Amino acid sequence: MQILGIDIGGSGIKGAPVDTITGTMLTERHRIPTPQPSKPSDVADVVAEITRHFNWTGPVGCTFPAIVKEGVVHSAANVDKEWIGTNSQALFQERADCPFVVVNDADAAGIAEMEFGAGVGHTGVVIMLTFGTGIGSALFVNRILVPNTELGHLEIRGKDAEHRASDRIRQERDLSWEKWAEKVNEYLHYVEFLFSPDLFIIGGGVSKKHDRFLPLLDIRTPAIPAQMLNDAGIVGAAISARVLV
Ligand code: BGC
Repeated sequence: MQILGIDIGGSGIKGAPVDTITGTMLTERHRIPTPQPSKPSDVADVVAEITRHFNWTGPVGCTFPAIVKEGVVHSAANVDKEWIGTNSQALFQERADCPFVVVNDADAAGIAEMEFGAGVGHTGVVIMLTFGTGIGSALFVNRILVPNTELGHLEIRGKDAEHRASDRIRQERDLSWEKWAEKVNEYLHYVEFLFSPDLFIIGGGVSKKHDRFLPLLDIRTPAIPAQMLNDAGIVGAAISARVLV
């Protein structure tokens, strides 16, 4: 089954057709920089441009970096506040003239990892965390997703966890791997205490450098790096849109 996957990120909007049976992308991804400011109408134009690039008329799965329920965006931590209350699904559908499903970006990445990556064969409570501009989360209970968990906004020492331990903070403050790992460790201990997970899957671009920080953690729960890396959002978005077929 072929579905177009689109991943909306803070700096780029990327898309590619995906074979949802094998979890592979069928072409090179097409990337367009995210408009700044990233108002709904401007982002929708770019999303439509990606569908046109692939001459796409079939189903499309799309990620969005916020709470998304039935297509409606309910938060805006790292995106333009105008998104709150916007029906992203209806907006993209109208601009691109294709059927859309829109899901939270970390949920999409988690879905891809569970089906084709680090989560294959894992049951129980699995938590995927993506460390990037923010911290995204996807919670699975016996492989079923509990959507929109937003664990990046747990409060640690009076601050949103993502304002202490995201990869953006590591880069902006030029933290050493040791210093950053301390913050990630403190955060994971808290998540571990609240959920007693069986497995953490650590994703986001920084997971490519997992050997620099995963060995420094002293949590009880096994923590393994994501495997799908840059493809996770696109592939997970496409899988989420299988309901349209
Ligand atoms: C948002 C989440 C998103 C995460 C990663 C957070 O700030 O609230 O919805 O999944 O960033 O992009």
